[in-house]
Amino acid sequence: MSLDATPVSSENEPRRRGAVDYASARPAPEVRREDRGLPVLGRLLEFAADPVKLMRKQYETYGEVAPLKGALGETGLMLLGPDACEQALRNSDKAFANEPAWSKIVGPFFNGGLMLIDFDQHHAHRRIMQEAFTRDRLEAYSARMHSAIEQGLSTWTGGEDFKTYWALKQLTLDIAADIFMGGAEDTSRAEMDKVNKAFIACVQAAAGIVRGDVPFTRWGRGYKGRKVLEDFLRHYLPARRATKTDDIFSVLCHIVTEDGERFTDDDVVNHMIFLMMAAHDTSTITTSTMLQYLGQHPEWQERCRAESLALGPYPTLAELEGMVSLDLVMKEALRLRAPVPVLVRKTVKDTVVQGIRIPADTDCVVGVQFSHVMEDYWTDPETFDPDRFAEPRREDKSHRYAWEPFGGGVHKCIGLYFAGAEVKTIMHQLLRSWTWTVPADYVAPLDHHSLPFPKDGQPISFTPRQA
Ligand code: HEM
Repeated sequence: MSLDATPVSSENEPRRRGAVDYASARPAPEVRREDRGLPVLGRLLEFAADPVKLMRKQYETYGEVAPLKGALGETGLMLLGPDACEQALRNSDKAFANEPAWSKIVGPFFNGGLMLIDFDQHHAHRRIMQEAFTRDRLEAYSARMHSAIEQGLSTWTGGEDFKTYWALKQLTLDIAADIFMGGAEDTSRAEMDKVNKAFIACVQAAAGIVRGDVPFTRWGRGYKGRKVLEDFLRHYLPARRATKTDDIFSVLCHIVTEDGERFTDDDVVNHMIFLMMAAHDTSTITTSTMLQYLGQHPEWQERCRAESLALGPYPTLAELEGMVSLDLVMKEALRLRAPVPVLVRKTVKDTVVQGIRIPADTDCVVGVQFSHVMEDYWTDPETFDPDRFAEPRREDKSHRYAWEPFGGGVHKCIGLYFAGAEVKTIMHQLLRSWTWTVPADYVAPLDHHSLPFPKDGQPISFTPRQA
């Protein structure tokens, strides 16, 4: 898989750009009167309606470091363009922290997850978790995925208006149940459904307005969901500790680094809950975006299908990686609709980005999706054109952070190769068994309250290939 355009950098790497003394840097611009937004919500609704439109407006009005009125009158900063994003994500002076920023968005439901811990603790946990994503392990996960996907796809009905997004969401949940939890050998379908529901309640809690453990609210359901997940994992933990299997739950229980570091029971529970969240919606969104564009560009669908038909039904990881056209399509889908369009950080000390002072305790939004559509780096950025990632064009090389759907720096997605294997395996099976079309003028009505998903479930005309 050639998805890894920007290698994970070390926190100790010297800052390459914008290494400006704090005192001599300029202050961030003030928010203009007309940009204050609504009284309580600030510009949240504008963001939810169209994040790229808001980011572009901010960039054109204020530049790469743009003040933003958020909820409850708080002012943060938007970091826009690949240079500003790079500085925050590479974080060479350790000024940007994840936990205080992400926990404000996703609530307490994913506490202790790798993305929500910082600095030395993060470094130690990432070293251990890296062992769960080695090449050997990925090959094992990848081999195991085929049957879960085949089984899930066997229930697909197709039809004129087949709601592909919802079908994919169920499929990726089933894959997660198998690859992460070890399948249903010792758990009933009803129990797995309860776990899936609890997990969805935790994810949906992020969009809750009442932010407390209040019954009948999203957060109330999130707290209940977290408890169900914790009880479930703790119940099966002793068995996973006792026997080695090749699901991620068992792997996390058994990993020991060369230095003898390992996860405690609490760590395993926290990481499992976060990993399931990190893996699920992101892969679903990527696959559904690919389905949409391949439905609108039959020449690309045929190109990808030809690659799939040249392989057997159960390709190895190396064979999946060799699917060049599918790889280009996946990259283009991630560019056009980054499943995580913005990342958040909070400064824990004063720092400087692109010559602008950012004091400690500032909330920052890193505008990943905006870098993906800037005309400075991409030709005709709104157009679906996967060949832009192929030699000799390689537009993604116009800047190290022009394409950053997996983030960058020490928190760069640890599951990007896993995601590549999962998405490509699903696409491979779909290409072999189905054809589909999407009207050229279809524009997915995206909901941006959490990660961007098509509110209409993305109805697609789906037909079995043999027919
Ligand atoms: C297309 C699919 C995916 C996309 C676009 C994606 C995107 C991202 C991004 C942008 C981050 C960085 C967050 C930040 O810096 O604040 C991240 C982190 C993370 N992702 Fe993914 N992800 C995907 C799939 C997965 C999968 C399949 C897994 C697990 C199997 C996973 C596990 C993680 C973890 C554990 C982190 C936290 C890493 C750290 O903080 O060190 N992701 N992901």
